[in-house]
Amino acid sequence: MDRNLALEFVRVTEAAAIAAAKWIGKGDGKKADGAAVEAMRTRFNNIEFNGCIVIGEGKKDEAPELYVGEKLGTGNGPAMDIAVDPLECTDSVAFGRYNATTLVTTGPKGSLLSAPDTYMDKIAVGPAARDAISLEASVAENIQNVAKALGKNVEDVTVSMLDRPRHQQMINEIREAGARIRLITDGDVAVAVATCQEESPIDMLLGSGGSAEAVLAAVAMKIMGGQILARLKPRNDEDRKEMEVLGLDDKTIFTSEDLAKGDNLTFTATGVIDGPMLPGVIFNPTSILTHSVVMRSKSKTVRYLTTYHHEE
Ligand code: FBP
Repeated sequence: MDRNLALEFVRVTEAAAIAAAKWIGKGDGKKADGAAVEAMRTRFNNIEFNGCIVIGEGKKDEAPELYVGEKLGTGNGPAMDIAVDPLECTDSVAFGRYNATTLVTTGPKGSLLSAPDTYMDKIAVGPAARDAISLEASVAENIQNVAKALGKNVEDVTVSMLDRPRHQQMINEIREAGARIRLITDGDVAVAVATCQEESPIDMLLGSGGSAEAVLAAVAMKIMGGQILARLKPRNDEDRKEMEVLGLDDKTIFTSEDLAKGDNLTFTATGVIDGPMLPGVIFNPTSILTHSVVMRSKSKTVRYLTTYHHEE
């Protein structure tokens, strides 16, 4: 892949972040999402590549989503898979809460898992604990093994998860094990990435969340040396049928390498509202300030970009 393409993709996430940030706190998640989608589509279609969305958040009939199977780019250049979340944490933007980003990952055709937009059970940790986790072990065992790998006491391990009723049993088990908990309203990609950041207090992500988010996080985890394990958790029969068509089941445990194959991957994100991964968009009198991260798996570079935009 042309390495300049990674920097082209940041223009896509920046444009989507600026468009979505205009909707912060206005109570309308659909409009925020629609603005991000439109900005992404327009920017993607200016790039010389032959992209196809393999996992994302929309179905073809659910306009204005970027739908699975949608072709993006000029059609010339390398054929690439795209996993996308035009606006990760739509509700955070609608209600002006913490942690929202725009996200794009790419890889050569066939590299990113194509799966329905459903849930996955997930566990993610940073580099030092990457071999210490299992989706088949109990919560207590995982915490003890991660504590050992990190050289910490169990009481000093911080586990983060989405604040959802479905996680109550897991929360009880973490408390019984003695570890700390950080609950988030939305945005488990940023939390998975946070486990790889030394300046972050988060040691482990647990719980179920979006399947697209698992693929998006897997690319960053691979580049940053961490690990995410994920298993599909269909919500209903429609999900099960879609999984069957794609030859997927709810037993297979995917590693980050299974979710995102090879070493020619990119991960690009721009902050919409401040979160563990990135600060949000700031509108100044004469410019708009964005904060992004661009990662490439080939070089394992992780670049943080601060950009001043001048709108026409
Ligand atoms: P959106 O991009 O749909 O806003 O996703 C936000 C999010 O919190 C993800 O980070 C997470 O994986 C998923 O939703 C969890 O889904 P649910 O809100 O149904 O528990």
